[in-house]
Amino acid sequence: MIIVLLGAPGTGKGTQAQFLARRFDLEAISTGDILRQEIKNGTSLGKKAEKFVTSGGLVPDDIIIDMIRGRIDGPENRSRTRTGVIFDGFPRTLSQAKALEKMLSSLGSGIDRAIYFHMPEERIIERLSGRRVCTDCGETYHVVYNPPKEVGVCGKCGGALYQREDDKPEIIRQRLQTYNRDTAPIIDYYSKKDYYLQVDAYDDIDRIKEKITRVLGG
Ligand code: AP5
Repeated sequence: MIIVLLGAPGTGKGTQAQFLARRFDLEAISTGDILRQEIKNGTSLGKKAEKFVTSGGLVPDDIIIDMIRGRIDGPENRSRTRTGVIFDGFPRTLSQAKALEKMLSSLGSGIDRAIYFHMPEERIIERLSGRRVCTDCGETYHVVYNPPKEVGVCGKCGGALYQREDDKPEIIRQRLQTYNRDTAPIIDYYSKKDYYLQVDAYDDIDRIKEKITRVLGG
Protein backbone atom coordinates (compact mmCIF):
# COMPACT_ATOMS: atom_id res chain seq x y z
CA MET A 1 0.00 0.00 0.00
CA ILE A 2 1.39 3.39 -1.00
CA ILE A 3 -0.09 6.41 0.79
CA VAL A 4 0.63 10.10 0.34
CA LEU A 5 -0.32 12.64 3.03
CA LEU A 6 -0.92 16.20 1.81
CA GLY A 7 -1.74 19.43 3.62
CA ALA A 8 -0.46 22.66 5.12
CA PRO A 9 2.07 22.72 7.98
CA GLY A 10 0.58 21.67 11.30
CA THR A 11 -2.51 19.94 9.95
CA GLY A 12 -1.60 16.61 11.59
CA LYS A 13 0.10 14.69 8.76
CA GLY A 14 3.01 13.54 10.93
CA THR A 15 0.74 12.52 13.82
CA GLN A 16 -1.39 10.34 11.55
CA ALA A 17 1.65 9.00 9.63
CA GLN A 18 3.18 7.70 12.87
CA PHE A 19 -0.12 6.01 13.78
CA LEU A 20 -0.83 4.55 10.31
CA ALA A 21 2.72 3.22 9.94
CA ARG A 22 2.27 1.22 13.16
CA ARG A 23 -1.32 0.19 12.39
CA PHE A 24 -0.66 -1.06 8.83
CA ASP A 25 3.04 -1.94 9.19
CA LEU A 26 4.14 0.68 6.66
CA GLU A 27 7.48 2.43 6.27
CA ALA A 28 6.89 6.12 7.12
CA ILE A 29 9.02 8.44 5.02
CA SER A 30 8.87 12.03 6.31
CA THR A 31 11.01 14.35 4.19
CA GLY A 32 10.97 16.94 7.01
CA ASP A 33 12.28 14.39 9.57
CA ILE A 34 14.98 13.16 7.17
CA LEU A 35 16.13 16.74 6.47
CA ARG A 36 16.22 17.67 10.17
CA GLN A 37 18.32 14.56 10.87
CA GLU A 38 20.72 15.37 8.02
CA ILE A 39 21.06 18.95 9.32
CA LYS A 40 21.70 17.69 12.86
CA ASN A 41 24.38 15.29 11.58
CA GLY A 42 26.03 18.05 9.51
CA THR A 43 26.00 15.97 6.30
CA SER A 44 26.50 17.58 2.89
CA LEU A 45 22.77 17.14 2.19
CA GLY A 46 22.01 18.77 5.55
CA LYS A 47 24.30 21.70 4.73
CA LYS A 48 22.57 22.25 1.39
CA ALA A 49 19.09 22.01 2.93
CA GLU A 50 19.55 24.02 6.12
CA LYS A 51 18.96 27.54 4.81
CA PHE A 52 15.69 26.51 3.16
CA VAL A 53 14.35 24.60 6.17
CA THR A 54 15.23 27.26 8.74
CA SER A 55 13.76 30.08 6.65
CA GLY A 56 10.49 28.27 5.87
CA GLY A 57 11.20 27.82 2.14
CA LEU A 58 11.25 24.61 0.11
CA VAL A 59 14.40 22.59 -0.47
CA PRO A 60 15.01 22.42 -4.27
CA ASP A 61 13.17 19.63 -6.10
CA ASP A 62 16.29 17.87 -7.43
CA ILE A 63 17.68 17.41 -3.90
CA ILE A 64 14.37 16.07 -2.56
CA ILE A 65 13.72 13.77 -5.51
CA ASP A 66 17.21 12.23 -5.25
CA MET A 67 16.70 11.80 -1.52
CA ILE A 68 13.41 9.93 -2.05
CA ARG A 69 14.85 7.83 -4.86
CA GLY A 70 17.61 6.73 -2.49
CA ARG A 71 14.96 5.58 0.01
CA ILE A 72 12.64 3.63 -2.26
CA ASP A 73 14.75 2.37 -5.14
CA GLY A 74 17.70 0.00 -5.16
CA PRO A 75 17.62 -3.74 -4.35
CA GLU A 76 17.58 -3.27 -0.57
CA ASN A 77 14.53 -0.95 -0.70
CA ARG A 78 12.35 -2.47 -3.40
CA SER A 79 10.64 -5.14 -1.31
CA ARG A 80 9.82 -2.52 1.32
CA THR A 81 8.35 -0.25 -1.35
CA ARG A 82 6.15 -3.16 -2.45
CA THR A 83 5.00 -3.91 1.13
CA GLY A 84 4.00 -0.36 1.85
CA VAL A 85 5.15 3.20 2.32
CA ILE A 86 3.49 6.28 3.74
CA PHE A 87 4.89 9.58 2.46
CA ASP A 88 4.54 12.49 4.89
CA GLY A 89 5.39 15.92 3.46
CA PHE A 90 6.24 14.65 0.00
CA PRO A 91 5.36 15.52 -2.74
CA ARG A 92 5.17 19.27 -2.22
CA THR A 93 5.39 20.53 -5.82
CA LEU A 94 3.98 19.34 -9.13
CA SER A 95 7.43 18.31 -10.26
CA GLN A 96 7.86 16.15 -7.12
CA ALA A 97 4.39 14.63 -7.72
CA LYS A 98 5.28 13.67 -11.28
CA ALA A 99 8.69 12.31 -10.23
CA LEU A 100 7.03 10.12 -7.57
CA GLU A 101 4.58 8.66 -10.09
CA LYS A 102 7.47 7.87 -12.42
CA MET A 103 9.56 6.24 -9.68
CA LEU A 104 6.66 4.13 -8.44
CA SER A 105 5.64 3.06 -11.91
CA SER A 106 9.20 1.93 -12.67
CA LEU A 107 8.91 -0.28 -9.56
CA GLY A 108 5.58 -1.69 -10.78
CA SER A 109 3.70 0.24 -8.12
CA GLY A 110 1.46 3.30 -7.74
CA ILE A 111 -0.35 5.47 -5.22
CA ASP A 112 -3.30 3.79 -3.46
CA ARG A 113 -4.45 6.81 -1.45
CA ALA A 114 -3.60 10.53 -1.41
CA ILE A 115 -5.10 11.99 1.75
CA TYR A 116 -5.51 15.76 2.04
CA PHE A 117 -5.67 17.26 5.54
CA HIS A 118 -7.93 20.28 5.22
CA MET A 119 -7.94 22.97 7.95
CA PRO A 120 -8.62 26.73 8.22
CA GLU A 121 -5.33 28.64 8.22
CA GLU A 122 -6.07 30.63 11.40
CA ARG A 123 -5.86 27.40 13.46
CA ILE A 124 -2.40 26.47 12.23
CA ILE A 125 -0.32 28.84 14.38
CA GLU A 126 -2.03 27.51 17.52
CA ARG A 127 -1.30 23.93 16.46
CA LEU A 128 2.35 24.55 15.64
CA SER A 129 3.24 26.75 18.58
CA GLY A 130 2.00 24.03 20.99
CA ARG A 131 3.82 21.19 19.24
CA ARG A 132 6.60 19.29 21.06
CA VAL A 133 8.71 16.56 19.45
CA CYS A 134 10.81 13.79 21.00
CA THR A 135 14.54 14.35 20.55
CA ASP A 136 15.15 10.59 20.35
CA CYS A 137 12.28 8.90 18.49
CA GLY A 138 10.51 11.86 16.79
CA GLU A 139 7.08 11.14 18.37
CA THR A 140 4.89 14.27 18.18
CA TYR A 141 2.83 15.80 21.01
CA HIS A 142 0.79 18.94 21.62
CA VAL A 143 0.77 20.74 24.97
CA VAL A 144 -3.05 20.98 24.90
CA TYR A 145 -4.46 18.52 22.34
CA ASN A 146 -2.09 15.58 22.71
CA PRO A 147 -0.03 16.10 25.87
CA PRO A 148 2.54 13.57 27.12
CA LYS A 149 1.70 11.93 30.46
CA GLU A 150 4.76 13.56 32.02
CA VAL A 151 5.56 17.15 30.98
CA GLY A 152 8.58 17.32 28.65
CA VAL A 153 9.06 13.53 28.49
CA CYS A 154 8.20 11.22 25.57
CA GLY A 155 5.65 8.57 26.59
CA LYS A 156 6.98 6.18 23.96
CA CYS A 157 10.73 6.14 24.67
CA GLY A 158 11.37 8.46 27.64
CA GLY A 159 13.33 10.98 25.50
CA ALA A 160 13.27 14.73 26.14
CA LEU A 161 10.74 16.81 24.19
CA TYR A 162 11.77 19.96 22.31
CA GLN A 163 10.18 22.72 20.23
CA ARG A 164 11.16 22.81 16.54
CA GLU A 165 13.14 25.89 15.41
CA ASP A 166 10.72 26.48 12.53
CA ASP A 167 7.72 26.53 14.90
CA LYS A 168 8.39 30.18 15.78
CA PRO A 169 5.56 32.50 14.61
CA GLU A 170 7.60 34.41 11.98
CA ILE A 171 8.88 31.18 10.37
CA ILE A 172 5.39 29.61 10.54
CA ARG A 173 4.06 32.59 8.54
CA GLN A 174 6.78 32.07 5.92
CA ARG A 175 6.02 28.32 5.74
CA LEU A 176 2.35 29.10 5.16
CA GLN A 177 3.22 31.51 2.34
CA THR A 178 5.45 28.86 0.77
CA TYR A 179 2.67 26.29 1.12
CA ASN A 180 0.06 28.54 -0.51
CA ARG A 181 2.35 29.42 -3.41
CA ASP A 182 4.08 26.09 -4.17
CA THR A 183 2.14 23.22 -2.59
CA ALA A 184 -1.56 24.17 -2.58
CA PRO A 185 -1.73 23.83 -6.41
CA ILE A 186 -0.95 20.11 -6.20
CA ILE A 187 -4.09 19.54 -4.11
CA ASP A 188 -6.06 20.43 -7.22
CA TYR A 189 -3.96 17.93 -9.21
CA TYR A 190 -4.61 15.09 -6.73
CA SER A 191 -8.29 15.97 -6.19
CA LYS A 192 -8.99 14.73 -9.73
CA LYS A 193 -7.58 11.27 -8.99
CA ASP A 194 -9.90 8.45 -7.94
CA TYR A 195 -7.62 7.61 -4.99
CA TYR A 196 -8.01 11.10 -3.46
CA LEU A 197 -9.53 11.52 0.00
CA GLN A 198 -10.08 14.73 1.98
CA VAL A 199 -10.26 14.67 5.79
CA ASP A 200 -11.29 17.43 8.18
CA ALA A 201 -7.95 18.02 9.95
CA TYR A 202 -9.63 20.11 12.65
CA ASP A 203 -11.47 17.03 13.87
CA ASP A 204 -10.35 15.07 16.94
CA ILE A 205 -7.10 13.04 16.49
CA ASP A 206 -8.82 9.71 17.24
CA ARG A 207 -11.76 10.37 14.91
CA ILE A 208 -9.33 11.13 12.06
CA LYS A 209 -7.46 7.89 12.83
CA GLU A 210 -10.74 5.93 12.71
CA LYS A 211 -11.87 7.53 9.47
CA ILE A 212 -8.60 6.86 7.64
CA THR A 213 -8.31 3.34 9.08
CA ARG A 214 -11.82 2.54 7.82
CA VAL A 215 -11.06 3.88 4.34
CA LEU A 216 -7.82 1.86 4.20
CA GLY A 217 -9.80 -1.26 5.09
CA GLY A 218 -8.30 -1.81 8.56
P1 AP5 B 1 7.88 19.14 7.53
O1 AP5 B 1 8.55 18.61 8.71
O2 AP5 B 1 7.28 18.21 6.54
O3 AP5 B 1 6.82 20.21 8.03
P2 AP5 B 1 5.33 20.54 7.52
O4 AP5 B 1 4.81 19.96 6.28
O5 AP5 B 1 5.34 22.01 7.58
O6 AP5 B 1 4.44 19.81 8.48
P3 AP5 B 1 4.55 19.79 9.99
O7 AP5 B 1 5.53 18.73 10.42
O8 AP5 B 1 4.80 21.17 10.52
O9 AP5 B 1 3.06 19.45 10.42
P4 AP5 B 1 2.19 18.13 10.35
O10 AP5 B 1 1.10 18.29 9.35
O11 AP5 B 1 3.06 16.91 10.25
O12 AP5 B 1 1.50 18.22 11.77
P5 AP5 B 1 1.76 17.39 13.13
O13 AP5 B 1 1.22 16.01 13.00
O14 AP5 B 1 3.14 17.57 13.63
O15 AP5 B 1 8.89 20.07 6.70
C1 AP5 B 1 9.77 20.98 7.33
C2 AP5 B 1 10.58 21.72 6.29
O16 AP5 B 1 11.40 20.79 5.54
C3 AP5 B 1 9.77 22.46 5.22
O17 AP5 B 1 9.39 23.75 5.66
C4 AP5 B 1 10.76 22.50 4.03
O18 AP5 B 1 11.72 23.50 4.20
C5 AP5 B 1 11.46 21.15 4.14
N1 AP5 B 1 10.80 20.12 3.34
C6 AP5 B 1 10.15 18.99 3.82
N2 AP5 B 1 9.65 18.25 2.81
C7 AP5 B 1 9.97 18.90 1.66
C8 AP5 B 1 9.70 18.64 0.30
N3 AP5 B 1 8.99 17.54 -0.09
N4 AP5 B 1 10.16 19.52 -0.63
C9 AP5 B 1 10.88 20.62 -0.27
N5 AP5 B 1 11.17 20.93 1.03
C10 AP5 B 1 10.71 20.07 1.99
O19 AP5 B 1 0.73 18.20 14.10
C11 AP5 B 1 1.00 19.53 14.49
C12 AP5 B 1 0.60 19.69 15.97
O20 AP5 B 1 -0.82 19.53 16.11
C13 AP5 B 1 1.22 18.64 16.89
O21 AP5 B 1 1.53 19.25 18.11
C14 AP5 B 1 0.11 17.58 17.08
O22 AP5 B 1 0.19 16.92 18.33
C15 AP5 B 1 -1.16 18.43 16.97
N6 AP5 B 1 -2.26 17.73 16.31
C16 AP5 B 1 -2.19 16.87 15.25
N7 AP5 B 1 -3.43 16.47 14.90
C17 AP5 B 1 -4.30 17.11 15.73
C18 AP5 B 1 -5.72 17.12 15.84
N8 AP5 B 1 -6.51 16.42 15.01
N9 AP5 B 1 -6.29 17.92 16.80
C19 AP5 B 1 -5.51 18.65 17.64
N10 AP5 B 1 -4.15 18.67 17.59
C20 AP5 B 1 -3.55 17.92 16.63
